[in-house]
Amino acid sequence: MSTSLAARETKEFQGRIIDGVDDVTPTVIAAMAQASNVRVREIGEAFVRHMHAFAREVKLTEAEYDIGIDFLNRIGQATNDHHNEGILFADAVGFSTLVCLMNNGNYGATETAAALLGPFWRMNSPRTEAGGSIVRSPTPGAELFVSCQIKDAKGAPIEGVEVDVWQSSPVGLYENQDDTQADMNLRGKFMTDAQGRFGFRSVRPAGYPVPTDGPVGDMLRAQNRHPYRPAHIHFLGFKQGFKTLITQIFVDEDKYLETDAVFGVTRHLVGNYQRHDSGTPPAAGVTAPWYTLEYTFVMEAGEAKLPIPPIK
Ligand code: BEZ
Ligand code: FE
Repeated sequence: MSTSLAARETKEFQGRIIDGVDDVTPTVIAAMAQASNVRVREIGEAFVRHMHAFAREVKLTEAEYDIGIDFLNRIGQATNDHHNEGILFADAVGFSTLVCLMNNGNYGATETAAALLGPFWRMNSPRTEAGGSIVRSPTPGAELFVSCQIKDAKGAPIEGVEVDVWQSSPVGLYENQDDTQADMNLRGKFMTDAQGRFGFRSVRPAGYPVPTDGPVGDMLRAQNRHPYRPAHIHFLGFKQGFKTLITQIFVDEDKYLETDAVFGVTRHLVGNYQRHDSGTPPAAGVTAPWYTLEYTFVMEAGEAKLPIPPIK
């Protein structure tokens, strides 16, 4: 090592030989404190502090350490362009909802409450005409007519919001998980009109299990947890000048509302999926029962920013 490099290292990091278990955490934190980016330093230090405290608290054995590392590796190995086990894990331990609610904290006060994005958003869903159907291949389930409006914090309608919607088929799978569905089935993009309105046709969503064939499934089974999500439709509202809204509207009376496997349900987001057994259907050829959902979203001024797509 050149003298100048050694000198720089001595100046920046007073390392030490580790004499015992009590030396480990402060030594690692001191190493992490070399980061010049303040946020990298803050996050690195806190992460190490909490991770080391966790190992101490549970008196982690070496066998358990091996299981944990293997679990982490399997999350990475299960992730590809079409499946995101990392997000699924964050969802299944409530981390996504925690971060979502921390960063969208007013919880319905000045904007519609946010909900986790989940692992199934795809960026390039098809632009669909106002009131059009997102059913792109034969799909079971009662017909559903969705009518929504988007307003700003003062109650004025917002025109020109691009709204991405996606839902699973009532068979319990998103189209990307199921070769029998057309590409982009039950996905679509709509634009709000001058009254801030948008609407579409679909089928009433059903609850579905999150994927359980990977390490997250092993975790759920080990914890005696069911894998189901209550039925819902995802919405992502995007317009320059407004904080991007990512949320879900859940089917009222779904039996999994209180035990969502990924903790995504908050009270404001339970919708009124109204059943109709008689009367004039909203479109020709519709047979009873059909359902309607009306919902008013509120978007507040802020930064328009799309998330990184979990899958392609
Ligand atoms: C979803 O709602 O699409 C979802 C969220 C978390 C895990 C799995 C699926
Ligand atoms: Fe979903």
